[in-house]
Amino acid sequence: MLNIALPKGRLGDQVYEMFSSIGYECAAIYEDNRKLVFENPENDVRYLLVKPSDVAIYVEYGAADVGVVGKDILLDAKPDVYELLDLNIGKCRLAVAGPEDYIEDRDQVLRVATKFVGVTKDYYSSLNREIEIIRLNGSIELAPILGLSDVIVDIVESGKTLRENHLKVISTIVPVSARFIANRSSYLFKSEAIADMLARLKEVLSRDADHAR
Ligand code: PRP
Repeated sequence: MLNIALPKGRLGDQVYEMFSSIGYECAAIYEDNRKLVFENPENDVRYLLVKPSDVAIYVEYGAADVGVVGKDILLDAKPDVYELLDLNIGKCRLAVAGPEDYIEDRDQVLRVATKFVGVTKDYYSSLNREIEIIRLNGSIELAPILGLSDVIVDIVESGKTLRENHLKVISTIVPVSARFIANRSSYLFKSEAIADMLARLKEVLSRDADHAR
């Protein structure tokens, strides 16, 4: 049985659609309940519904064999897992954003609000820029509006949240998409099942790419 950590929410729905289309369906997942574990012994899969930011933790510790997680989280937390494939969904970018009229004062320590502490530290240290990080867990866009920070580092997808809060992208740090990851020992001990899943995922991606041409 392969244990798959599925991120709850919009990305998870897309991931499940992809997995079920290549033979890993588990119809019970559509049941309207609060269950977090769903299995289908017929095709040897068990889905674990977890918070998107926790997927890599479940996989790193082996509570799940494989999972799907945003590259943003991999870059930020650097979990010890195998990153096997870019699934080409959940596309967005990690960016620095600030008020529409923002002008940087390079003589001041920059106050950056974010939940991506690792990425933020790496990015600004590569620029040799001194910063103070204000760690928030959500609604990051509020911080510069209230003067809690100068800028934010956050996910930008459509740009709507920034626009509606009179913020703008100042610089893009890195493009982001969903990645298929595996636990290191599962990759050895369940190698056949994981290789089979990986091959089917690659096939569906190349089929989609052909259709897009
Ligand atoms: C994310 C991110 C932005 C928003 C960007 O928030 O933190 O707020 O999406 O999307 P957009 O560019 O399409 O507007 P999410 O909804 O995941 O909630 P969060 O505040 O908990 O991070």
